[in-house]
This record gives sequence, C-alpha cells and structure tokens, in this order.
Amino acid sequence: RTIRRDDYTPPPFLIDTVDLVVELFADSAKVVSRMAVRRNPAAVAKPADLVLDGKKMDLLSVSLDGRAAAHEATPETLAIRAVPDRFTLEIATRLRPQDNAELTGLYKSRDIFCTQCEAEGFRRITYFLDRPDVMARYTTRITAEKSLAPVLLSNGNLVERGELDGGRHFAVWEDPFPKPSYLFALVAGPLDCLEDRFTTRSGREVTLRIYVRPGDVPRCDHAMESLKKSMKWDEDVYGLEYDLDTFMIVAIDDFNMGAMENKGLNVFNSKLVLANPETATDLDYHSIEAVIAHEYFHNWTGNRVTCRDWFQLSLKEGLTVLRDQQFSADMGSAADARIDDVRRLRAAQFPEDAGPMAHPVRPDSYIEINNFYTATVYQKGAEVVRMMHTLLGPERFRKGMDLYFQRHDGQAVTCDDFANAMEDASGVDLAQFRLWYAQAGTPDLKVEGRYDAAARRYTMTVDQSLRRTPGQPDKKPMHIPLSVGLLDGAGRDLPLKLAGEAAAGGTTRVLDVRNPRDVFVFEDVPEKPVASLLRGFSAPVKLQAPRSEEELTFLMAHDSDPFARWEAGQQLGARLILDMVAARKAGKPMVVPDLFVDAIRRTLDDQRLDRSFIADAVTLPGLAFLGELMPEIDIEGMWAAQQRVRGVLSQQLADRWSSVYDANHGSGPYRFSPEEVGRRRLRSTALSYLSTDKGEAARRRAVEYFENAKNMTEQVAGLGVLAELGGAEGDAALGAFHERWKGEPLVLDKWFGIQARTPTGDTLQRVKQLVDHPSYDRKNPNRVYSLIGAFASGNPVQFHAGGGAGYRFLADQVLATDRFNPQVAARLLAPLGSWRRYDAGRQTLMKRELARIVAEKGLSRDVFEIASKSLD
Ligand code: ARG
Ligand code: ZN
Repeated sequence: RTIRRDDYTPPPFLIDTVDLVVELFADSAKVVSRMAVRRNPAAVAKPADLVLDGKKMDLLSVSLDGRAAAHEATPETLAIRAVPDRFTLEIATRLRPQDNAELTGLYKSRDIFCTQCEAEGFRRITYFLDRPDVMARYTTRITAEKSLAPVLLSNGNLVERGELDGGRHFAVWEDPFPKPSYLFALVAGPLDCLEDRFTTRSGREVTLRIYVRPGDVPRCDHAMESLKKSMKWDEDVYGLEYDLDTFMIVAIDDFNMGAMENKGLNVFNSKLVLANPETATDLDYHSIEAVIAHEYFHNWTGNRVTCRDWFQLSLKEGLTVLRDQQFSADMGSAADARIDDVRRLRAAQFPEDAGPMAHPVRPDSYIEINNFYTATVYQKGAEVVRMMHTLLGPERFRKGMDLYFQRHDGQAVTCDDFANAMEDASGVDLAQFRLWYAQAGTPDLKVEGRYDAAARRYTMTVDQSLRRTPGQPDKKPMHIPLSVGLLDGAGRDLPLKLAGEAAAGGTTRVLDVRNPRDVFVFEDVPEKPVASLLRGFSAPVKLQAPRSEEELTFLMAHDSDPFARWEAGQQLGARLILDMVAARKAGKPMVVPDLFVDAIRRTLDDQRLDRSFIADAVTLPGLAFLGELMPEIDIEGMWAAQQRVRGVLSQQLADRWSSVYDANHGSGPYRFSPEEVGRRRLRSTALSYLSTDKGEAARRRAVEYFENAKNMTEQVAGLGVLAELGGAEGDAALGAFHERWKGEPLVLDKWFGIQARTPTGDTLQRVKQLVDHPSYDRKNPNRVYSLIGAFASGNPVQFHAGGGAGYRFLADQVLATDRFNPQVAARLLAPLGSWRRYDAGRQTLMKRELARIVAEKGLSRDVFEIASKSLD
C-alpha cells in the first residue's frame, strides 16, 4: 500500500498524556498504557471509532473510562468502537523483546532492553496514534528484577525509584515536554556510566551521563568531550540551550542505524560512542564527534520543533545534518569538512538521484517509510538548507532560525513552514527555490565564459537542465546559487563588478541562476581571467565547464577557495581517467599526461598547504563519482585507468612519497587534533602510493608500518594495504589482527570490512567463507554491514566481477536477512537497483536477481518496495 503526501489529514483524536507501566521479565514484557484522549477540534472528519496503530503484540485488555470497551483488532490496528469526545483509555499488551530481531520497538541487545521507535516502532510497544503530529506528555514506570536490570531509564526526569517484592525494583520517569511517540525511549539492563556536568548559558546545571556495558566506561571520554562541545556550540552559534536537568546517552551493540535522538535519552550504536586510540580510528573519532553533535542538535531541530508527517523528514534531518556539518567545520579544518561533505554526497546521493529510487528531498509517496532515511533526505536535504544560508547570508539565516523557533516551538510542522520562516525573516523570495524540496534529480549546469578585451568584459553563460526521474517527467528550472570568482594571470582574485553595479564589491559573488539560460556580465575586467566556479560547492549540481587542462592546473595551484582548488584537481583527474577509459575501449594505450603528474608534484611540494588538504588533493576521484560521469559505467575500464594513474604517480613521484612517508612519522601519544589527523592521513596515503608496485620493498615497508602501528588508525591503514598486496604478508597480517582483536566486536568489524573491500584477489570466495566464520553474526547489523554491505556497496570492482556471482550472493543474503530484519535487508539491496547504468550483460544478471527477490513469498514491505521499484 502506497502512502501519499497529498492524502494528509489532521489526526481525528489527540492524546494529551500517556502513563506507561512497563514490567520487564526474562522472557516477556507487559505494557499498560493509560491515555487521556480527546477529539481534535481541528480534525476534518468526526469518526465514531478511534483507530490505533499496533503490530506484533498480544492484546491483553482494553478499558475505556474504567469499563470494558467494544473493540476490534486486526494485525496492524485496534479499533475502539463509538468513543465519546473525551475519555481515558487503558490498554494492556504483552511483548517478547528477546525474540525481536527487527530491532525496532522494544528489543534486547545482549542483556540490555532498549527501544527504537522512529519511525513507527512505538506501535510495537503499545497501541497508539503512532504519527508525529500526535504529541503527548509521557510518564514511564519501569519495573524489573534488580539483578537483571539494575539500571532503568526513560525520557525526562527521574521522579521516583524504589524496591519491590521478589528482588524487583522500579523507576518512574517524567518527561515535561510533549513529544511524538517516535521520541519515546526506554533502556534497562546492567550498565555503567560516565558522568559529567554542563552549565548552560542561563545557569541550568545539567548532569550528563553516558551509559555503556560494564568495562567500557574508559572508552567514553571522547564522546563526553564531543557532547560538551556540541552543547556549547549550539549556544554560541544558534543561541539554543538544553532544556532538561539530565542528558543521557546509551551505547547499544545491536542497532539498525547510527543513533537516535530520543528526548533526553539518546540511544547510540556503540561504534559511535566507544573510542580509545588502540581500538578506534581517526575516522571513528570524527564520526563520534559528528553524530553526538547531530543527535544533540536534534533536541531543538526535531524534538522541540518536530515533523507533521514523515514526508517532512528532511525538515529535521536536512537541517540537523547542516548543523552537524557546520559544527564539524568549526571543530577542525573547514575546507576538509566541506570536501568530506561533497565526497559523501557524490558517492551516495548522486547515484541515488540517478537511480530507480530517486525521490525529492520531500518525497511524495512511500510504501515503507524506513526506506526513506536516505542520502537524499539527509545529505541533499542539508545542501538545500545550506543554499538558503548562502542566499540569505549568515545573519539573516540566523534571524530565520530564530523566527522558526519563535513560531513553531512545541509544534509538528512542515518544510514549507521552515521556508516561510526563512523568507519572512529575511525578505528573500524563496518561491522558486522551494522546487529543491519537490523535484528529484541532480541538475546539470553548463557554464561558459567569454572575454571581450576591447570592452574589458567577461560574459558567463549558464545553462541548467534537469533530467526526468521516476514519476517526474517534466521539470521546471531551479533557483541555483552559483558562487564564482575570477582569477588574474598571477592567480589573484579580481574584484567583481556585475553590469549595472556602480562599483566592484568582493571577490566571490553568488549568482542567482533561475532560468534555462542565464547570462552574467562582469565589467572592468582588466585581462582574460580564469573562472573559479561553484566555490564552496554552493549547490548540489553537476558542473560542466569547458576548461582546458592548463586552466584546471592553474586553479589547482592558485584558487583562494579551498574547495574549488581541490575540485579543480578532481575534475582534472576525472577527465583524464575518463579519457583513458575511452582509449582502452578503443584498443589504444592509456596515457597519463605529464601535466597531471606535475600538478600533483607541486601540490606535494606546496609548503603552505596543510597535510590533510594535501592528502585530499592527491587522492584520485573514487569509482562511484567517476561512474556517475559515464553514460554507461565501465567498471573494468575505470579500475584499470585509476590503477594506471596510481602506478604512474607512484613511480614518477617515488622520491616525494618516500620523503612524505619519512617526514610524517610522528611521535608522542595519540592526539585527535586536525594536525595529527592530517599527518597520519598523509603518511598512509604515501604508504599506499608506495605499495602500488607490489614489490619486495613495498611489502617490507607495509609490514613494518603495520607491525609498528601505535594506534588503530595506523593498524587499519597498514592492514588495508597488506590485504590488497595479498600473499603471505597479507594473510599473516589478517591472522595476527584477528588473533589480537577477536574479543573486540567493533574492531572485528574492521577486520571483516577490510577483507570485503579488497579489490584484488578472490574476494567473493573470501566473503562467502567469512559468512561461516565463527565470529560472524548475521543478527548484528554492524557485522552484516561490515561484511555484506562493504562488499556490495564498497567494492564495485569485485561485486560486478565474476559473471553475476556477486549479485546472486547479495540476493541470497537479502532474502535470508529479510526473514528477521527487513530494514537491514532493504539497505543491503540498494546496489542492485543501479542495473540500468551497466552493460547489457550485467543488466540481465542484476535484473534476474531483483526478479527472484520480488517473486519470494512473505517478502517485507521494505524489500518489496526497493526491489519492485528497481525493476520498474
Ligand atoms: N533520527 C535518527 C537520526 O538521527 C535516525 C533514526 C532512523 N531510524 C530508522 N529506523 N529509520 O538520524
Ligand atoms: Zn538525524
């Protein structure tokens, strides 16, 4: 059944308060929910019955105002017959958390009871109006045997706790803020915690607690520091303060996604909490900081102001991702952070926008909402809010945020409400801009420049187009902020004066592109400039500009905008790799031009650049990004060309890689600082270039690097290189790593992931063996993503090799997983959806697997939606 955005109607009833009593036992849980219900004065219809959502529970009893109530249950609803205008409803249900492998609703992760209610998990705990525009105040009483669950947590403030007969105890939590059911949380089990404090700007003393399994407390320091930085940052930048006396985070090993912003009680995948230098990489440290911030920021953008319905998901997710991106930019290097955002967008979102699941940032319909927690809703949604920030400027954007909270605090609202607040606070017309919420697909932007020396005029012609996407055959032109600069022959920014302006103003200007073709004229341009386009990646578009290789290398060396400077190198790299792919196809030799090698050499030699920027700049464009630039994805061609470029850079710059490798050895204890992270990244990048020839010296160096690794960042970098080198060294390193880390699940995930991502050797065979490895656990999402997900989504070379064996393997895994965890199964499936992008042979093989999946009996809605839409 398809749910449509246009069908939205306000809820016929409202629920003002919910009193929950949850009794936890070893093999079941009993839930009694007492609700104050009344008719919604704003409802359009006045139905006689109250129809609640509910799923996979045993209904024990229903009473209305203390008397038995006429009711009827179906597998997914409970109808209470002929209800009055205002009443108290009490419903008792029984659940089996220990058998809940879907990890949604109330479930058990090892010996910890926990919940995941977004999007529609609360209906697996009790019957309810499980939709975000029904906001209630919750009181939660939890009881459990003390020895099984010494810690009992829920949202809000602890108001009472005590002992009960039979070794049991109880705790009562009260959340003063009305909230939608998806923000409800309950956690119970044997947990230790790290405690700290934070004083808000206006003097509220907040107790901060991070709960983890006993023994893991020493690995919580980085998460706690990240939390305090987030709280401070949100006060400084947005004036937003925390609003309860405690803020709690719980780390859970079995979790479908990253983390969840439940009011006052965030639940996290343990990989996004636990860190020390021995077990976590720089990337893990970075992700922890970003996700702790993300979930904390949701307290205002998501919780205080929430979504009216799930089509508005990007209202909270796009905005909160933008806020966590701004936070990350402020914590480290802003240039790096932006490059990271764009890499991620291009690797995950651009392919989505070009595939069968392409959907607008605010989707129009869905079968299963869990399938719409996508790169489009999150990452592209963040780009949309960022473009508003660009169009309004920081001050007016902040005014818009203030107005948004002033108007909507405590409400469930829409993306339009957000755009209205921005528009009203700033006076900037966003009417056309709103198409970014409605139209799917990545716009193509063609920019051409012409210099008229006599008139000292530079004319920029911008053409936009947007290809059709499923369900959207005709597109309208978008409002695109295009940030540009002009460089003179010495690489300096020229002051910019647009035709009609009295004087030049600034060296970076944001052009308002609004039509299929727009023409911008710059005046008083003293010489033929080189244009710097899409500075800061000012819009999520694919840019085409006929720039010569010389112009691109010039920008690589001089552009004052660090993103554009990096991007020039990526464009140049992509262009030459694609030329090589074409040459290879025509049976011609693949040639790497000296100009590119020289540009990389100059980057390595540039003393003014920081190390992480250099590492970014000498890293070749990834296969996902390159594939998007090809009419038909030629995996072998891209891989061969990319390897050739790597080989040439490795050989011709061997002395540079060696000196970079030696110079960045580092000493002293591990520190997670931008400088140290940059140093480690640059050194491992050099190591990987030094290893491309697979010779004896390379093997010795990689073994030495791996064996002398002083932290997990270096261990993982070394192991990746050795796994790719293969042979005895590769096997030995993998064996040693497993032996050392077999007791650490999060580290073991890395071991599985590295093997699944190895582009060389018989990876599929290895992955199949690993499925049967005693350490493999098909019920644990982290493990499944680190093996099956990494192979199918992170290793295109191997996934698409072998005449369809990889596709068959993935389909088998999807079907097996779907029997107990549809959300994870649906996520694994995505790579098969891109079949149209490949050659006819692969198309047939990929479609065959999709058809086999669709034909399966008892398929979940999750997998059915992705598989069937992929075939359409
Ligand atoms: N709201 C969470 C976040 O911070 C994501 C939870 C999604 N969970 C799900 N089952 N769809 O982004
Ligand atoms: Zn979020």
